[in-house]
Amino acid sequence: MANLKPGIFITSTDTGVGKTVIAAGLALALRARGLKVGVMKPVATGCLPEYESLISPDAVFLFEAAENEYPALTSPSRFRNPLSPNVAAVIENREISIEKISKAYRELQKKYDFVIVEGIGGLLVPLKKDYYVANLIRDFQLPMVVVARPGLGTINHTLLSVDAAIIRGLEVMGIIFNRMPTVNYTMADITNPKVIHELTGVPVLGSLPDIEGLDIDACQFGNLAEVFPERIQVEKLLSHLMPSAL
Ligand SMILES: Nc1ncnc2c1ncn2[C@@H]1O[C@H](COP(=O)(O)OP(=O)(O)OP(=O)(O)O)[C@@H](O)[C@H]1O
Ligand SMILES: [Mg+2]
Repeated sequence: MANLKPGIFITSTDTGVGKTVIAAGLALALRARGLKVGVMKPVATGCLPEYESLISPDAVFLFEAAENEYPALTSPSRFRNPLSPNVAAVIENREISIEKISKAYRELQKKYDFVIVEGIGGLLVPLKKDYYVANLIRDFQLPMVVVARPGLGTINHTLLSVDAAIIRGLEVMGIIFNRMPTVNYTMADITNPKVIHELTGVPVLGSLPDIEGLDIDACQFGNLAEVFPERIQVEKLLSHLMPSAL
């Protein structure tokens, strides 16, 4: 697949670590620089039924942050059960079509300057037989950012994720720590970013604290737009991906 426009794939060391928050924060930061940003959650599980359809709170949050216009491109594959995609697909008797997802991604690339894709769980979440999130990143030809927890246990999880990416030929552009405590932090919280950078050689792009007023289900961004660019090195990311935007 020819990569028409720059973009980034936001993955994480586990589910619930903060991909949606980081992807939305990046969308807000890039929009503030005048870029038209397309966003995508290629497969969403745990969606909420609404009339005849299913709504993904993650996709809605990203869609609103980026002020997108094409919901079917942002969220092309939705499942009701809060399960791994391959399991939800079997239970709901529907196949995940990588072709449909790839087509939506190509459309977003045509319509926007920059595309941000949120992963599903971590790198080795299966989407279908012999096809994992890591395969999708490779098919999209996108570099990735790993979102990690700050505290104890994150060295192992982050190193596993970086290793899994490198083995599969994926480019890890950076690591972002999410929900970094600003008070009552532990020794692990403080030392982990440097240790992980030294062990992986991957740049740490910053640490995001808890965002006041943020609520994904209610689609409230709180002060994410202000705090994200203060804490995350957006320029560093752009200097690699889109120097013309600096
Ligand atoms: N920096 C933050 N400040 C406040 N709340 C946060 C922050 N990061 C994450 N959260 C909360 O933690 C929860 C998990 O975050 P998020 O949904 O971004 O994770 P995820 O990696 O996208 O999860 P999933 O694998 O389900 O897509 C959310 O309910 C969100 O509201
Ligand atoms: Mg999410």
